[in-house]
Amino acid sequence: MSAVTARAHPNIALIKYWGKKDEELILPVAGSLSLTLDAFATTTSVELREGLAEDRLELDGLVRDGEQLARVSAFLDHVRSLAGASGRAVVRSVNEAPTAAGLASSASGFAALAMAASAAYGLDLDARGLSRLARRGSGSAARSLVDGVAVWHAGTDDESSYAEAVPAPPMGMVIATVDGGPKAVSSREAMRRTVQTSPYFSAWVSSTEDYLERMVTACRAGDFTTIGQLTEAHALRMHALIASTEPPIRYLRPRSVEVFDAVAGLREDGVEAWATADAGPNVAVLVQPQGAAETAARLAAIVGVDQVRVVGAGPGAHLLPEGCEVPPAPGTGTQE
Ligand code: PMV
Repeated sequence: MSAVTARAHPNIALIKYWGKKDEELILPVAGSLSLTLDAFATTTSVELREGLAEDRLELDGLVRDGEQLARVSAFLDHVRSLAGASGRAVVRSVNEAPTAAGLASSASGFAALAMAASAAYGLDLDARGLSRLARRGSGSAARSLVDGVAVWHAGTDDESSYAEAVPAPPMGMVIATVDGGPKAVSSREAMRRTVQTSPYFSAWVSSTEDYLERMVTACRAGDFTTIGQLTEAHALRMHALIASTEPPIRYLRPRSVEVFDAVAGLREDGVEAWATADAGPNVAVLVQPQGAAETAARLAAIVGVDQVRVVGAGPGAHLLPEGCEVPPAPGTGTQE
């Protein structure tokens, strides 16, 4: 059988997902909201191949085994159980994110895999079904199925936990890379530790629900200032929460904090820019299209900011026409 190929982009959350109420189904403790980017795509093909004893994973040009293969294979097991199929597959995947950008993401990876694997195994899923499926690979992947701004409804069970589009004003991001190294603690492990040890956890859940409601209203109203204020405040709440775990975890570096300060300086000069950061030191700055160039120039001038990239709102995961193949892996291809 020929391969089915799909493409997906990472997303950056404006209202963050941090904490699961069900580890197996990947149900979050609260909803979240993100912007799908138009850069750093992952392209993934899935080819069912008879006679294979186990799945095969080629990531960025290298054959992978161990934990990486196990995670992909567990995801394919779920797809096979839904499809009533048993055949093994060859998965080829290439990330366009440079390793140093810290954006080679599980969101784009599992969104592209959900799209390609469901088609390869003959599952006929609607948009909601695809988002639910991607969620089982990595929570944030549920949102990369959606064009532009996506709200992920926390839900109460497998069926009700999915992402869908929210209308929003034009916006983009300036990504400032301050450190491309691997995370000290994975988001999976850090979330678990947060749920188990932070004394602030219940306040986080209720404040996230409140912020999400206000964020959806602001998006629908096209109110960029409120979107920005909520974005930055919610990111800082997440990092404060993470710092309150035992033992503590801190993802932001001194340079990351400098970027947050520079963004506050931009606002004082009349540029509407608002900072956020995921489980790592790199900072994504939310801007309107007219503020992108000045923001990029200001951040590029900070010593220790390695790379600055302007990105826009991008499409949700989609299948590529038959015959399209996974591109060659860029560089040495050792990203996670
Ligand atoms: O989906 P995961 O397990 O990679 O977790 C993503 C967590 C954050 O990026 C920090 C927040 C978010 O909502 O994307």
